[in-house]
Amino acid sequence: MSTAWTDQLNWTTGDITCLEVDAIVNAANHSLMGGGGVDGAIHRAAGPELLEACKEARRQRWPDGLPDGEVALTPGYSLPVRYVIHTVGPVYAKTKDKSHLLANCYRKSLALAADNGCTSLAFPAISTGIYGYPFEAAARIVCQVMAENLPDYPELQVTLCFFSDSDAQAFLAVFDEVVSDGG
Ligand code: APR
Repeated sequence: MSTAWTDQLNWTTGDITCLEVDAIVNAANHSLMGGGGVDGAIHRAAGPELLEACKEARRQRWPDGLPDGEVALTPGYSLPVRYVIHTVGPVYAKTKDKSHLLANCYRKSLALAADNGCTSLAFPAISTGIYGYPFEAAARIVCQVMAENLPDYPELQVTLCFFSDSDAQAFLAVFDEVVSDGG
């Protein structure tokens, strides 16, 4: 029996670096050298080895930087997770096919987590902070990607981690609308 995608999705509010899951997703930038926001929090909590692993990922696989919508896996080091999946969301104001690239961040993270044996994965609200993606539009893309892709990974439980209750409420409003429309 196929599980409804909504059975595989839950959400929480707070700091993603505290979640005890197999992998968390980092809203990184092209350099993979860390930054502010959730990127800074994850690097601080993981410790300096994470930056070394990101430098190695740059050397081995992404010499010109991680493109928008792509993903890179590293260990979690001092975080309570096995892996960090780094992805680069689109900068809303200056990216043409921004919805496609944001969807790729989520879609490729699901695939990479499943390929590495993860059964639990947490996402922050990629691109909705410094990169300025309007929250409701981003939430709609998240729901669409989860509805289309979670059935392919029946073992995977996904947690959406919102940094504020207002963000969680805004997501829930979109989620309820999508589900009631048969999403
Ligand atoms: N846990 C969970 N969510 C968080 C945390 C945290 N510790 N810190 C911030 N957030 C939320 C923000 O409130 C926002 O909703 O994560 C979402 C993404 O915001 P940003 O971290 O600003 O990421 P983004 O908008 O994708 O911009 C990426 O910011 O930090 C830099 O290096 C990063 O250049 C990159 C850019």
